Amino acid sequence: MNKAKRNAVIAGNWKMNKTASEARELIDGLLPLVKDAGCTVIIGVPFTDIHVAVEMTKGSNVHVAAQNCHFEASGAFTGEVSAPMLKEEGVEYVILGHSERRQYFAETDETVNKRARAALANGLKTIICVGESLDQREAGVTKEFVCGQVVAALEEMTAEDLKNVIIAYEPIWAIGTGKTATKEQAAEVCGFIRETVAEKYGQDVADALTIQYGGSMNAKNCDELLSMEDIDGGLIGGASLKPADFSVIVEAASK
Ligand code: 13P
Repeated sequence: MNKAKRNAVIAGNWKMNKTASEARELIDGLLPLVKDAGCTVIIGVPFTDIHVAVEMTKGSNVHVAAQNCHFEASGAFTGEVSAPMLKEEGVEYVILGHSERRQYFAETDETVNKRARAALANGLKTIICVGESLDQREAGVTKEFVCGQVVAALEEMTAEDLKNVIIAYEPIWAIGTGKTATKEQAAEVCGFIRETVAEKYGQDVADALTIQYGGSMNAKNCDELLSMEDIDGGLIGGASLKPADFSVIVEAASK
């Protein structure tokens, strides 16, 4: 982290977990544990938990994210939710382009970019996920692939837009596997991402950009990962479902 230059942000991605009543219980446990956080704290909840999450976090330091949004404001897109719908519910952030969306729901660089631009146009902040597969890492194309994803995701965005963008580097091989990237591996790719943004928007914009690491980040390894200059926080899956663990990560990012 480099807090002199940019915000540290810890975001939970609950994925498809927690009914509304379970969400109520989790948030109830979490709020007191993170109330003195010295970093931005976000919970990324399923659509059906948004109402409860927004209501319960009102007046607290915890922000609510959705896990996707469509690029159109309305229309014949069965099963989708739009940015204006999220905005009106009081959602502040939206996670976009998660590898699970890309892998299982045919999300592409192009749709991720369209969704992100729609989110920004509607006053939502975005967490845009990028990351390579194990095959890509072993083939030595990580930098090229991840930076390509970044360029595509930021297509047609202005430097002003970038103030509302967080990039999450999530190597697919580290997600839900318990196999975390080493701090050097994670920081190296976060550094490549920052260079890519600097090439397009200049060093000041790149220096101000929050870049998270995600992939089996937990209460034990968070200190080490967050000690790296280019890792400005975490996007946390499994450990975000346990308030005690999540709050340890928030504490680590609060130092
Ligand atoms: P895990 O922390 O469960 O590996 O998930 C990471 C992730 O995909 C967050 O978006």
